[in-house]
Amino acid sequence: MALKATNPTSTNSWKKLQSHFDHIKSKHLKDLFKSDAQRAKDLTIKWEDFYVDFSKNRITKETLDLLLDLANEVQLKDAISKYFEGDIINATESRAVLHTALRAPKNAKVLVDGVNVIPEVHEVKKKIEDFTNSVVNGNHKGFTGKVITDVVNIGIGGSDLGPAMVVDSLQYYKNHLTTHFVSNVDGDHYQEVIKNLNPETTLFVIVSKTFTTQETLSNANSIRAWFLESQPKEAVSKHFVAVSTNINSVKAFGIEETNIFPMKDWVGGRFSLWSAVGLTISLALGYKNYESLLEGAHKMDEHFRSSDFENNIPVISALLTIWYNNFFEAESEAIIPYTQYLNQFATYLQQGIMESNGKSVDRDGNKVNYQTGTLIWGEPGTNSQHAFFQLIHQGTKLIPADFIGFVESLYGNKDHHDKLMSNYFAQTEALMNGKTEAEVRSEFNENSLSQEEINTLTPFKIFEGNKPTTSLLIQKLTPESLGKLIAMYEHKIFVQGIVWNIYSYDQFGVELGKQLAKSILKELKEDNSSSKHDASTQGLVTFYKENC
Ligand code: F6P
Repeated sequence: MALKATNPTSTNSWKKLQSHFDHIKSKHLKDLFKSDAQRAKDLTIKWEDFYVDFSKNRITKETLDLLLDLANEVQLKDAISKYFEGDIINATESRAVLHTALRAPKNAKVLVDGVNVIPEVHEVKKKIEDFTNSVVNGNHKGFTGKVITDVVNIGIGGSDLGPAMVVDSLQYYKNHLTTHFVSNVDGDHYQEVIKNLNPETTLFVIVSKTFTTQETLSNANSIRAWFLESQPKEAVSKHFVAVSTNINSVKAFGIEETNIFPMKDWVGGRFSLWSAVGLTISLALGYKNYESLLEGAHKMDEHFRSSDFENNIPVISALLTIWYNNFFEAESEAIIPYTQYLNQFATYLQQGIMESNGKSVDRDGNKVNYQTGTLIWGEPGTNSQHAFFQLIHQGTKLIPADFIGFVESLYGNKDHHDKLMSNYFAQTEALMNGKTEAEVRSEFNENSLSQEEINTLTPFKIFEGNKPTTSLLIQKLTPESLGKLIAMYEHKIFVQGIVWNIYSYDQFGVELGKQLAKSILKELKEDNSSSKHDASTQGLVTFYKENC
């Protein structure tokens, strides 16, 4: 069954939100706290090892009620059922969207075209487990009998960002294998990766859902050519495996069927780390940790699927984005993890969120008359405090931010962790409270400045505050808690797409780039190509050809 298509701006709740917004937009968070002693408690959701405090957002109980009404008016509940039950909710590509089935237990039942897909999901998982174990324990040897020491993931987009982010985030849990990622078609990227590798002890994992992606195939071909400079053809089967839906093209590339880890077309690239695309994760962390990651995601699936909307972390989080994006006209959101481990998290979410919800045509094919996908950016704290926090505190733009922190550090240096977390807490407090003129002046009075100097400097030292943040506090960074966190954002993306009445699971904008580059590449390689470009592009192409 297709998703319902409702223009959100035509709902009663949207209209009510608009007039409610006029009433609330200039209210200060400080005052909202003063007038409601229960606010922090009422606007915090505690679930498993997650403590999620939404109270530093510019909302009241009434805002939340209206946003929840909006979710009901666009029939979110019905959409969630369709999402989990394998309906064709990616209608523009005629596909189900079932990354949730990849982390479902063996006894689950999810039908696609009348067939339960869960047994096949678990068959592939078993293949991942067996292969991981044989590589990690040294039973799988390279062609010359040496054990594997390095794994190179060759893929781009969802076939790179998810595995790379997870392996980096969970490096504390890594085994002895050294992992590398080659994604960019920039030839210098793969050259830098292979320059110190020994082909006899390296395993290459080619990851491409379609097995047609220019970057991945170019890198795979160049790396195989480099491999064959020193190794015989028969060695390929011990050193190259592939993950794809396109089994025939993988075989044509020269990879044996036993070395292919299949995936299904109902797994979107940016949601694919739970499929065989996660093979490099399993190799790097060991199968048990990979399984825990999936279990964490499954727990979040259950929370999302079964909790009331008012206690539902992804639902509330998504509705808040809509509140800021469509009423406050905030254009971006920052993701600030207070752990260096989540260094790649915002980059990973950029694909998930912006490729999914960067759409301007609604589910009826009409141009939308409201804003959709937000810009996503961020870096870990405290580094980001010394980089871009100035603009969040005192710039002209409203930037809602998610602060993500952990109660425990992994190596247990309490002194450092207290310092790290005191920054997290202090920043969210300062962003909310700001600093008034009276506070600035009273600070000056403690110094020996003249009244004139105080008057001159005061305006620059005032912080308006009222900058919204959501605080996520998680017990500890583990494979399971990371699985929950990633799944939380996946479901947030889904909810936003439903409310905005767009299709979140295609990416025609990216595919346009693939076609354009192909035709220009032909011109770059031909001496006498007839050009059909604008003067600017032609000038660039000509300059490049004349000088390279
Ligand atoms: O970037 C566009 C995209 O289609 C992504 O959705 C996908 O993750 C990526 O390309 C890679 O595609 P493939 O896995 O088919 O090589």
